[in-house]
Amino acid sequence: MPDSPPIVFGNWKMNGRRTDAQALVQAILHGCGQPTTGTLGICPPATLLASAAEWLTESSIKLGGQDCAAEASGAFTGDISAPMLRDAGCGFTLVGHSERRHGHGESDALVKAKAEAAFEAGLNVVLCIGETEAEWDAGQTIQVLDRQLEQSLPAGVVADNLIIAYEPVWAIGTGKTPSMDDIANTHAHLKSKLASLSAVGGDLPILYGGSVKAANAGEILAIDHVDGALVGGASLKADEFLAIFQAGLEAKAG
Ligand code: PGA
Repeated sequence: MPDSPPIVFGNWKMNGRRTDAQALVQAILHGCGQPTTGTLGICPPATLLASAAEWLTESSIKLGGQDCAAEASGAFTGDISAPMLRDAGCGFTLVGHSERRHGHGESDALVKAKAEAAFEAGLNVVLCIGETEAEWDAGQTIQVLDRQLEQSLPAGVVADNLIIAYEPVWAIGTGKTPSMDDIANTHAHLKSKLASLSAVGGDLPILYGGSVKAANAGEILAIDHVDGALVGGASLKADEFLAIFQAGLEAKAG
């Protein structure tokens, strides 16, 4: 039986200015037309969200933030709230990316509060989890992922408002990935762990992220319980990003 069609989200991180970003969005739109199956989305930096929402008018490509504050408004210089993301045209946001957890010292509790703030604002959430290289080397991956899920899974999850993204920190931007067997085992574990934590946990899609590119996407997206990909560097090139989506469509039609 074919799997559900893939979910592929591009995380642009701190990249993109108006001119090159518009060209990238246009190239993506030109390359994929209107995806009629699967889910394609982009997470540009906050400065580009309102413009990107206009560029994507009439498109089924989804727009997401890269992070949100746990508060809705107030004296939080430099922060961006979930209602603001929604106001800019976003339908979802990432929370708990390792560059937030480790680069900005965000705890599981804060990530949970951010996810709940996003739900409150009517946004869907991509909750990122992943072990560091030291934790991987020490064989603590499952333990770390279980803790992150137990402590950062938000209240208010229904089957279609939360997606989990498993991203080994050591695989992000490095060109390294776990073996296909390791990805398969970890995703199978996450699936059953989620089912034990939430009534709808077993239905939540689980994306893989970390050095996904056109050359490895077909193999990764063919793995059971890998429902899609969260793509960083390769999402900044339209051809590469679309080739990942295409590989996912083929793998899931498989
Ligand atoms: P990468 O980043 O694809 O550049 O490894 C993935 C991510 O950080 O979401």
